[in-house]
Amino acid sequence: MRLLFLGDLVGRSGRNAVIEALPNLRERYSLDFVVVNAENAAGGFGVTEQILIDLLDAGADVVTTGNHVFDQREALVFIERYDRLLRPINYPAGTPGKGAGLFKAAKGQDVLVINAMGRVFMADLDDPFRAVENELEACGLKTGADAILIDFHAEATSEKEAMGYFVDGRASALIGTHTHVPTADEQILPRGTAYISDAGMCGDFDSVLGMDKEEPLQRFLTKIATGRFTPALGEATLCGVAVDVDDATGLARVIAPLRQGGRLSQAEPAFWLAEAQAE
Ligand SMILES: [Fe+2]
Ligand SMILES: [Fe+2]
Repeated sequence: MRLLFLGDLVGRSGRNAVIEALPNLRERYSLDFVVVNAENAAGGFGVTEQILIDLLDAGADVVTTGNHVFDQREALVFIERYDRLLRPINYPAGTPGKGAGLFKAAKGQDVLVINAMGRVFMADLDDPFRAVENELEACGLKTGADAILIDFHAEATSEKEAMGYFVDGRASALIGTHTHVPTADEQILPRGTAYISDAGMCGDFDSVLGMDKEEPLQRFLTKIATGRFTPALGEATLCGVAVDVDDATGLARVIAPLRQGGRLSQAEPAFWLAEAQAE
């Protein structure tokens, strides 16, 4: 099974690039399942109902989020109407929305997607390890799901690596988000789970984490907020990872970065193209 994950969409630049590219990516790589993190899709802060609809229409199967999930207040209401929109699972009991769901991939396989959030240098939510454990117990690999993808939205790489080993052999992929900068540590962990500390963002990299440079720079220099953070509007780099899942075990065969457009060095999951040529 071929899974594609795209990291945090930031503002109009990131969101439009993803909406435009997704149909092509689905076809080019014969993708079975696509997950995108849209926590910064609406002006850098949260996601609106219309943006969610546009992403689903473009070919996203599931939209995950993070600490910015409810920045657009309307999300507190419409999240209840969309199974395909997830918020971190370890928010307090009673928070609108869900943190996990079982979804159908293109060829009918069941994919469990879990969205969890770290607690190091972040809000003090419930324990993400126990929250993920509960989901894996309720719906395990090959007992309930053909593939399991976890978006772990966290600041600290230590917490992300620990979560990776915590689910190793029990999930297809543990993909970090939130820092907006892609890391170069994509790997298959010893028991077969694909891992990367951060998928990176889909946004303009001529920026500070996707935001126009001026305001963040001034705040570092003066410690005074002089305006709002607004997304940078130059050409986006799409950042994500491609994960090839072994249908027999649900574990990962390959993980490779995808980076397309904009300023970052380009990368594409060439193993899929090579497979297509060999067929
Ligand atoms: Fe983000
Ligand atoms: Fe975040």
